[in-house]
Amino acid sequence: MNQMTFPDHRPLTTAPQGAGLVPDPRQAPAAAPVMNLTDVSVFYGSYEAVRNTTMPVHTHQITAMIGPSGCGKSTVLRSLNRMNDLIPGARVAGGVTYHGQDIYERDVDPIQVRRRIGMVFQKPNPFPKSIFDNVAYGLKVNQIRDDVAGRVEQALRGAALWDEVKDKLKTSGLALSGGQQQRLCIARTIAVQPDVILMDEPCSALDPIATSKVEDLMHELAGQFTIVIVTHNMQQAARVSHHTAFFTAEVDANGVRHGRLVEFSETGRIFTNPVDKRTEDYITGRFG
Ligand SMILES: Nc1ncnc2c1ncn2[C@@H]1O[C@H](COP(=O)(O)OP(=O)(O)OP(=O)(O)O)[C@@H](O)[C@H]1O
Ligand SMILES: [Mg+2]
Repeated sequence: MNQMTFPDHRPLTTAPQGAGLVPDPRQAPAAAPVMNLTDVSVFYGSYEAVRNTTMPVHTHQITAMIGPSGCGKSTVLRSLNRMNDLIPGARVAGGVTYHGQDIYERDVDPIQVRRRIGMVFQKPNPFPKSIFDNVAYGLKVNQIRDDVAGRVEQALRGAALWDEVKDKLKTSGLALSGGQQQRLCIARTIAVQPDVILMDEPCSALDPIATSKVEDLMHELAGQFTIVIVTHNMQQAARVSHHTAFFTAEVDANGVRHGRLVEFSETGRIFTNPVDKRTEDYITGRFG
């Protein structure tokens, strides 16, 4: 079977053979969304947790997903890099494309998908390894063996953590503060040079100072990566994102709740002039 691969994001000169099955992201027009969801529904067993989500993910921008608890934000986020594959009984229907290619096609390797579309979780989850090894881990898994030390330094610099840890790279990642641990996890994610970074409430375990550091970092990273962030914090969505998707949970005739995308728009518009009354009620605090 021909295993499809995604293009490597390293400089063009080192692009591997056989990387031409999908368009090179660096040559895509700036306006083309890097990902598109078309009628995406996600099931856990027979339960349809999220229904018919259609939205773009714009290149080198920050897209926020907001909405009340249980409306399916994490579920949709996981569908963007096939993390739902790891949940027994989970199934994704509809289309999720990355540079025009359906990531759920039979021949697509989910490991390749997750390398191109990385994820940072809610709770900082460094491995019980040294700071250096935490960042080098992704390189090892992806069999990237050249200039590991340089790549680790570059990732730690990219995650705005280098100056704080450069003299203690052999110390356990678990010995860092919560905010540092989250930046370490971001460094681990960017070390393999993904194209898109998914973040599920990355600041919810952090204090305001660490939160603002991670928010500043997101702005910086958006120049290089595309970011999708789930957040419960509407001020955060308004501060950091370019586009916002508002989800809610609808109750059907049988009393079953299903997540729905209510409105997707530029963030400024969602927060000042939303089209849908449900969005307005949510952002003005009348609901949720
Ligand atoms: N692994 C799972 N197995 C079964 N049902 C699940 C699973 N994960 C989520 N669900 C259900 O899917 C729906 C959407 O959950 P999801 O975690 O995506 O919501 P969310 O918007 O991220 O909520 P929160 O803001 O609380 O994190 C919920 O009804 C939830 O109970
Ligand atoms: Mg969630």
